[in-house]
Amino acid sequence: MKCTKEFRLGYSEKAKEILNKLTLEEKVALMSGQMSLQLEMQNNAEDPDNKHYNYIPYPAGGNERAGIPQMLFCDGPRGVVCGNGKTTCFPVSMLRGASFDTELEEKIGHAIGKEIRAFGGNLFGGVCINLPYNPGWGRSQETYGEESFHLGQMGSALVRGVQGEDVIACIKHYAFNQMENSRFKVSVDCDKRTEREVYLAHFKDCIDAGAASVMSSYNLYKGTHCGHHDYLLNEVLKKEWDFDGFIMSDFYWGVKDTAEAANGGQNIEMAHTLYFGDKLLQAVKDGSVPEGKIDDAAFRIIRTLLAFTDQYKTGVDTSVLACKEHVALAIESARKGITLLKNNDNVLPFDKKRIKKLLVLGTLGDSEPIGDHGSSWVRPPYVISPVQGIRMAASETQVVYDSGEDVEKAKRLAGEADAVVFVVGYDHNDEGEFVSESEAEGYTGSMGGDRQVSLGLHRNEIDLIKAVGPVNKNSAAVLIGGNMIMITEWMDSVSSIIMAYYPGMEGGRALGEILFGETNPSGKLPFVLPYNESDLPSVVWDTTYQHYDYYHGYAKLEKEGVEPLLPYGFGLSYTTFELSNAAFKADGDNLIASCKIKNTGGKEGTEVVQLYVGFSNSAIDRPVKLLRGFKRIALKPSEEKEAVISCPVEKLCYYNEKTGKMELEHMEYEVYIGTSSNSNDLLKGKIRL
Ligand code: BGC
Repeated sequence: MKCTKEFRLGYSEKAKEILNKLTLEEKVALMSGQMSLQLEMQNNAEDPDNKHYNYIPYPAGGNERAGIPQMLFCDGPRGVVCGNGKTTCFPVSMLRGASFDTELEEKIGHAIGKEIRAFGGNLFGGVCINLPYNPGWGRSQETYGEESFHLGQMGSALVRGVQGEDVIACIKHYAFNQMENSRFKVSVDCDKRTEREVYLAHFKDCIDAGAASVMSSYNLYKGTHCGHHDYLLNEVLKKEWDFDGFIMSDFYWGVKDTAEAANGGQNIEMAHTLYFGDKLLQAVKDGSVPEGKIDDAAFRIIRTLLAFTDQYKTGVDTSVLACKEHVALAIESARKGITLLKNNDNVLPFDKKRIKKLLVLGTLGDSEPIGDHGSSWVRPPYVISPVQGIRMAASETQVVYDSGEDVEKAKRLAGEADAVVFVVGYDHNDEGEFVSESEAEGYTGSMGGDRQVSLGLHRNEIDLIKAVGPVNKNSAAVLIGGNMIMITEWMDSVSSIIMAYYPGMEGGRALGEILFGETNPSGKLPFVLPYNESDLPSVVWDTTYQHYDYYHGYAKLEKEGVEPLLPYGFGLSYTTFELSNAAFKADGDNLIASCKIKNTGGKEGTEVVQLYVGFSNSAIDRPVKLLRGFKRIALKPSEEKEAVISCPVEKLCYYNEKTGKMELEHMEYEVYIGTSSNSNDLLKGKIRL
């Protein structure tokens, strides 16, 4: 891979030389997005079919005379937002998180990088690694799950893939950005250990993996806007973590004050100039911003862009857009991430020979469930809906579709069918990116937002399942959504439940294959599913102040001794696996866990083997256990393999508030290897470090 940090540092001399020849005006100009509203409107006018955000890569900076390329921003994460009907729409990151497949995520990164290059872009703004404090966060779909370690691993894989194509990966939103409706006004607060261990650790992982750009967030942290945050941007990111790349603001409203932002470490105001440009020039002239701040920003921008673009092959290859290989990755991802939550009496997979007539119920059955309509909206050439995918998987079966709005009719149809599939959950109206008109002046659309009312299904969907489910025992409920959906109230009314997240352009196909057994499900929940919403941390969604506790998700439930309905890391298969011979050892700087795993059922399948570390001997307040490794193991019937998972001992550290450092406790740790975070699914051991 060319664009590692080491490689970039090799451009320092050249960047310095260029910097020394620039005027102050030229340096300041590098720090501004250039996507003027006029340019956007002109683009829309020229091509009225393409009136959408980021149709073309958004430019910033650049200086032809001095040989500095523009930064050309393309959004994500579910693919490349540019163009219309051209790019591959992958499943959302939450589904990709459920696959626990870092190799696949890296390949998806390569595909995204190539598609960005096809638009002439050079930066991917879609490595979203925010950690939902509460699963109601409307943009949860853009991240990988609730667990910091897992976020770090998945995000790093995407960074490696994208940058492997010489496209800058921008990780976002730094930091504490996990409330949508309040994102422009909420000030988040937490203690130091929560900050470092829970909310910043995965950002550091991605920086260590070589991410060359960071997007600051809209929200405030301890009363200061994250886009101006001297502590977060200068002290932690640039000094402590030795970040060599550049920072950009979240778009349009992420910079609120010229001097505060520039002094706080902000490098580029996106996507057009409001507080930088002439105002920044003036601030340098009147002494409120030292010129050194401008030099540092310009140097970072120049060096990064030189390193990434210096070796571009000329010419743009558009044949990669939604090409066969990329679409195949989208299918593979959906197959690997869709998660089977319940399967009473092995009702699934449906037998094609026995199911002559299948009823699909629910408005989402006939929809294009690819995710929200915010900045991550990718427009692929086509989307396979759930009902289309089911028809493709069972061409001999008569597939009847009904919206389910008339419950009596649905009951009658269910009685006439051999099987019923409910497709229920959310769409872009229920959750997603949100912009309130009152806060973002001049903005004319608002979408999704947080799930402010409930984490469950809509009332009419619950009523439908409860009324129709008991009519036909061959039933499956397919859940569409970007994060955990409550099932407690209705789960007994159906025989099986599948979490499909937002499965991308080929999601319908993967779903059909799973329902009829052509694909054996192997996804695992990247979040806990509780019995009660009240088991999770409470959040006031419309607020100016929110405290984050140290505990959330499965760590909170475990600490409080609350049994979850389904544990973190849970997912069923059509086969069974048996684990044995667990062994744990410390090897240099790594903790190595291993076990034998055997496929004891009749079908080929894949298990995600997980490593957890427990802290019951700690002298301080620590979680019962935390995920510290995972690996997918594919096995044929009767096949046995050894699963070996390694985790850097460094990842067992806690943040010592007295010394201000991550430190290892020297003690005996519990170590677990198994198939979910539930202790019944884990083999146990101990290790002294
Ligand atoms: C979002 C970012 C996005 C940017 C560009 C912001 O509102 O928070 O994730 O990259 O817009 O549209």
